[in-house]
Amino acid sequence: MSSQHTIATRIAQLRQIIAQHDYNYYALDAPTVPDSEYDRLFAELRELEQQHPELITNDSPTQRVSGQASAAFTQVEHQVPMLSLGNAFAEEQVLEFALRAEQALGADQSHNDLFSPAVTVEYCCEPKLDGLAVSISYEQGVLVRAATRGDGQTGEDITANVRTIRNVPLKLQGEGWPEFLEVRGEVYMPKVGFEALNQRALAAGQKPFANPRNAAAGSLRQLDSKITASRPLEFCCYGSSTEGLADRHSSTLQRLQGWGIMISPEMQVVESIQGCLAYYADIGQRRAQLPYDIDGVVFKVDALEQQRTLGFRAREPRWALAYKFAAQEEITELLDVEFQVGRTGAVTPVARLKPVHVGGVMVANATLHNMDEVARLGVMIGDSVIVRRAGDVIPQITQVVLERRPSDARPVQTPSHCPVCGSQVERTQLVRRSKNKQVVSDGAVWRCMGRLSCQAQLQQALIHFVARRAMDIDGLGEKIIEQLVTTKLVASPADLYRLSYEQVLELDGFADLSARNLLSAIAGSKRPRLARLIFALGIPDVGEETAKVLARALGSLQRVQQAYPETLLWLPEIGAEVAHEIASFFADSHNQAVLAQLAELDVHAVDEGQPDVEFQACTTFAGFIEQFQITGVASTNAQRLAEHFKTLEALFAADWLDLSSIARMSKNTAQAVQDFIKQEGQRQRVLQLEQQLIDFGMHWTCQREQVQAAPLAGQTWVLTGGLEELTREQAKARLELLGAKVAGSVSAKTNCVVAGSSAGSKLTRAQELGIAVLDEAEFIAKLAELENQ
Ligand code: IVH
Repeated sequence: MSSQHTIATRIAQLRQIIAQHDYNYYALDAPTVPDSEYDRLFAELRELEQQHPELITNDSPTQRVSGQASAAFTQVEHQVPMLSLGNAFAEEQVLEFALRAEQALGADQSHNDLFSPAVTVEYCCEPKLDGLAVSISYEQGVLVRAATRGDGQTGEDITANVRTIRNVPLKLQGEGWPEFLEVRGEVYMPKVGFEALNQRALAAGQKPFANPRNAAAGSLRQLDSKITASRPLEFCCYGSSTEGLADRHSSTLQRLQGWGIMISPEMQVVESIQGCLAYYADIGQRRAQLPYDIDGVVFKVDALEQQRTLGFRAREPRWALAYKFAAQEEITELLDVEFQVGRTGAVTPVARLKPVHVGGVMVANATLHNMDEVARLGVMIGDSVIVRRAGDVIPQITQVVLERRPSDARPVQTPSHCPVCGSQVERTQLVRRSKNKQVVSDGAVWRCMGRLSCQAQLQQALIHFVARRAMDIDGLGEKIIEQLVTTKLVASPADLYRLSYEQVLELDGFADLSARNLLSAIAGSKRPRLARLIFALGIPDVGEETAKVLARALGSLQRVQQAYPETLLWLPEIGAEVAHEIASFFADSHNQAVLAQLAELDVHAVDEGQPDVEFQACTTFAGFIEQFQITGVASTNAQRLAEHFKTLEALFAADWLDLSSIARMSKNTAQAVQDFIKQEGQRQRVLQLEQQLIDFGMHWTCQREQVQAAPLAGQTWVLTGGLEELTREQAKARLELLGAKVAGSVSAKTNCVVAGSSAGSKLTRAQELGIAVLDEAEFIAKLAELENQ
């Protein structure tokens, strides 16, 4: 056997294996090998093909994406026209369809009793996928053409695009396929892929798609198939125009499945039209859980002989019917846009609609999210809009019907003043900034600047403040809070602690006992844990998790209040946007007053303490320099500057000679550094920041001093087994702050081993070598002792 021959055999074998894995993965949703194995096979095939380009064939899985974008789609004549389906919207229409079909099939034409029909008619039930009809042709088992439905007679050639759909076989599997085979089915985008695609579009500042169907259509109509290849499309076959494959529709589909073509796993054959109705009800219930959108179900007379007898009426088969679900989308009129004020003052537009039935529910309001969304939709008051309901989700406006825009349509205007309190409304730009990249602005919120003087904000702020996961004050429901706000008894969270027994008794629904209970619940909330207190404040973007990070890292409310945004950036999970929100929350005089009042009223966190050692140890001089955002100074150059100068004073004292002598740093960068350190304003700011790091025990030089004078300087410790009270990282950080080195294995040089639960070989080795061993409790006691020295 020639080596060329062996290579050709291996290539054929790899293609076959990969096609089988593609089928298992995409069509059956049941992969049999891990991705790594698949990738390995794919890489092997690609490499062999690169070495032997003469062996590349069009049906190879490496050839899904064609290199060339086309200028236009060419027309394709359908050999057998692609027809459409008759629709039913009510059970009655389904029964009529069955009666007509069964009468036509029955010998006795006078027979019209559906429950004891003259002939048996079995139906094949399938979901009606909401995508685009496509025809795919195979010659000698190889995909040669794919076309859109078009007008049913002529469609467009979308072969290059359909080839990129991963569950469409480029070559049929198995055997017995006819020389020419045409399959028909729906190309659609699964819900998950659709969400991800829209997220990506939004992040890139592009217009998202209104629904999965539009996304599938847009993806399939790309002239550059590379774009189609990047879209999560799938194909599901619901029929074939090739005759003689089987004697039933369902067995035709099964046969196609055997050749690697995806068919619906929901397909089901039932014995009567009653079975069809049950199928409709069942799928209807599971609709939201299906991974793709469907707009109904399709019933097809299963026996092909019976289909032939029934034939067609105009452009619709008499043997099939689509039973559609109530529309999820409707057209209606946008009567007005009102603005609501949320807890953080965000002023959000809400659409008031001319009431319309959407999927069986009356819809009169829809969310518009924010003004960016209004701009994206280009919606004006008076417009006809498409309203969409998906499951339990709040109805949304997905599109404006521009053709119907009336001449008196009015633009939606952001109010300049808060609709609730009349304060100024300001635009806050949301800034997203990754560590050393440029500021990327994305989106904006409009905020009422009234803060707690705005009743809407105050009310929402109080609801949040007393919530179970925040201050956990029992008995303060929304209705009571509303009363407290409207009667002006409470104008800030601090005022809750000033409520008197007499005042509470005045409120609706309170008597002696309930009043006393409420007051004791309020008083009982005065000693929250720090994380809860921070969360309760309702700082925009600070949820429970971020509150915990702030509490653990900084240890006191005062430090959280004082922290500069740059300091906060050192904390895990806190980015520029959140850091900015936190700092501006505490910079606000209203908020400062409330915090001062809370302190006066003796509301204090129980667990205030020192900043977390792990956090204290996280700063480096290089990282600090990086934060200055000097042009050309990202991590590498920051490192060079840090190593060269070692301290901020030295860096500030640098002259051009010093700077330009730093190895591998460009003159332009040196110049940028020089310009930066010469500016008095920048220097002051940087010095302030450094001072804060020193105050918080986070400064790199004080760490070094601490370490030199540290009680465990020069020692090597080993941690083994599981620790309960501390994480490994905390234990390691605390040891390092005390000057110890933490090693991974026990040797004669080890000074001490900390053995947690189920410690193994390292403990044994320590005992053999006679090294000191501490259990977790002893270790924690030791740490405390050394840290307090
Ligand atoms: S059968 C002659 N089966 O619905 C019968 N169509 O309204 C041709 N569709 O153009 C269609 N799921 O795009 C059939 N299981 C299914 C379907 C289905 C979706 C679409 C298809 C067709 C349209 C007809």
